[in-house]
Amino acid sequence: MNLPFLFTAGVAAAAAFPLHPASPQSPLGSNMSSFPHHGLQDIVNASPLLSFHRDIVQIESITGNEHNVGEFITRFLEARDFTVVKQVIPSAANNGSSNRFNVYAYPSNNPNPQILLTSHIDTVPPFIPYSVSRVHDSGSDSTGHGTILISGRGSVDAKGSVASQVFAALETLEENPRSSIGLLFVVGEETGGDGMKHFSESTLNTSPPSFHTVIFGEPTELALVSGHKGILGFEVVAKGQAAHSGYPWLGRSAVSAVLPALSRVDRLGNIPDSEGGLPSSPKYGKTTVNIGKIDAGVATNVVPASARADVAVRLAQGTPDEARELIRQAVRDATDDDKDVWADFSTHAESYPPQDLDSDVDGFNVTTVNYGTDVPNLEIHDSEDAKVKRYLYGPGTIHVAHGEHEAITAKDLEDAVKGYRKLIEVAVARNQK
Ligand SMILES: *[C@@H]1O[C@H](CO)[C@@H](O)[C@H](O)[C@H]1NC(C)=O
Ligand SMILES: *[C@@H]1O[C@H](CO)[C@@H](O)[C@H](O)[C@H]1NC(C)=O
Ligand SMILES: *[C@@H]1O[C@H](CO)[C@@H](O)[C@H](O)[C@H]1NC(C)=O
Repeated sequence: MNLPFLFTAGVAAAAAFPLHPASPQSPLGSNMSSFPHHGLQDIVNASPLLSFHRDIVQIESITGNEHNVGEFITRFLEARDFTVVKQVIPSAANNGSSNRFNVYAYPSNNPNPQILLTSHIDTVPPFIPYSVSRVHDSGSDSTGHGTILISGRGSVDAKGSVASQVFAALETLEENPRSSIGLLFVVGEETGGDGMKHFSESTLNTSPPSFHTVIFGEPTELALVSGHKGILGFEVVAKGQAAHSGYPWLGRSAVSAVLPALSRVDRLGNIPDSEGGLPSSPKYGKTTVNIGKIDAGVATNVVPASARADVAVRLAQGTPDEARELIRQAVRDATDDDKDVWADFSTHAESYPPQDLDSDVDGFNVTTVNYGTDVPNLEIHDSEDAKVKRYLYGPGTIHVAHGEHEAITAKDLEDAVKGYRKLIEVAVARNQK
C-alpha cells in the first residue's frame, strides 16, 4: 500500500475529528522517515479510519446478533454530532421481540438528508477474528513496505463500506458543515433484507423522498456498478407412490418423474428464448440456474414417493413473472404434462427483476455484478420528473467476501473514502444546478 498517503490521511483525519475513547491513538509526529519503523498496530492506531474499521470488525455481528455493533456505531456517530435514530427490527425467531436495530443518522442540524449513504452491519457466519498483516506482492509500493492486509469476517462485506462511508461523511461535513448527508446502516442484509425492508416501509422513507441520491455500499472493487441481476427461487416437486424396490411396478418413482424436469430446468439459461429458455441480455449476459439442493426418498430399497429440488435463478432479463411462466412451461414440456410434477413458487416469495443503477460519474470503472443486494428492498417513492439516483460502490472484492480468507487492503479503504466523497460532491453539484 501507499504508506506516504496513509500517513498524510491519518494526520489530516486525526486533526479533524475527535478520537473515540475505545480507539486509543498513538501520537504521530511529522517525521515521515520514522514512520516505517512503526508496527502494523501503530499504523492502524494512527488512522481514525482504520481504527474504526478494526473496532467494528472485532465486534461479532452475524445476522440476528447486530445489537452490539449497532450500539458501537451509534456511540461513535453521536460523539461526532450526529442524531441517531435506532430502528428496532422485530425478530420472528425471538417471538417478535428483538434488540437488533438499524442505525439511521443525520447531522444534528439537518434531519432531512438529501444524500443517503447506506450499507449493512450484519455478516455471514462463522465469525473470523480481526488481524493485520503485511504482504509483499506485486501491489507493494516503491518504498518496499508492502501491502497492508486487514483480515476478519466483515472486513470486506460490508464493514469496509460502512467505515469508508462514515469517514467520507465526516470529511465532507468537516469541509462543509451544511452538507445534507444521512447514514443508514441496516441489519439482516445477508438473510433476506429484513432491516432494509423495515426502513423502506417506515415513516423515515418519506414520499416524496427527502433524498435525491442513495449510495449503496457493497464490495465492488471500487468500481461503480451499473446494475445487478434479478433473482427468483422455486422448487421442482414430484409426487410418486412408495413400493418395495424389488417390485417397482407396484409404485411410482418420484425421482424418475422429476429427473427429466430437472434436466430441462438445469439448462434453461443456455436454451435460446425461441425454444423456451430463460432470456439473456447484452448487459448482464446469461440468466443462470442453480439446482442447489435435492431431497427425495427414504431408503435405497423403497421406491421414492416424493422428490423436491431447490432452485435459484439469477435473472439477466425480464420480470420474475415472465420467468415463472417459462419455468412452468419447461416442466410441462419435459414431463409430457405429468400432473404429478410441478414448479412450486410459493416457498420462495422473494424475487425481483434485474436492478439497473446509475453510473453517470466520470473517473470510475463501471461494471455489473451477479450478487444480490439491498437495492431492491428500498422502495423509492420518486417520480419520473424527479428520479432519485442510485449508486452501488465500495472497497474490497466479493470474491473473498463470504470465504475463510475475507480480507481488504488498507489502501482500498482509503480509496473508497475518496470515491464516496466524489460521488457525494457530484450529487451536490448536480442538484445545485
Ligand atoms: C526522523 O526520524 C529518523 C529515524 O527515527 C531520525 O534519524 C531523524 O533524525 C529524524 N528527523 C527529524 C528531522 O527529526
Ligand atoms: C410469545 O408472545 C405471545 C404474545 O405476546 C405470548 O402469549 C407467548 O407466551 C410468547 N411465547 C414465548 C415463548 O415467550
Ligand atoms: C480500472 O480497472 C483497471 C483494471 O482493473 C485498473 O487498473 C484501474 O486502476 C481502474 N481504474 C479506476 C479509476 O479505478
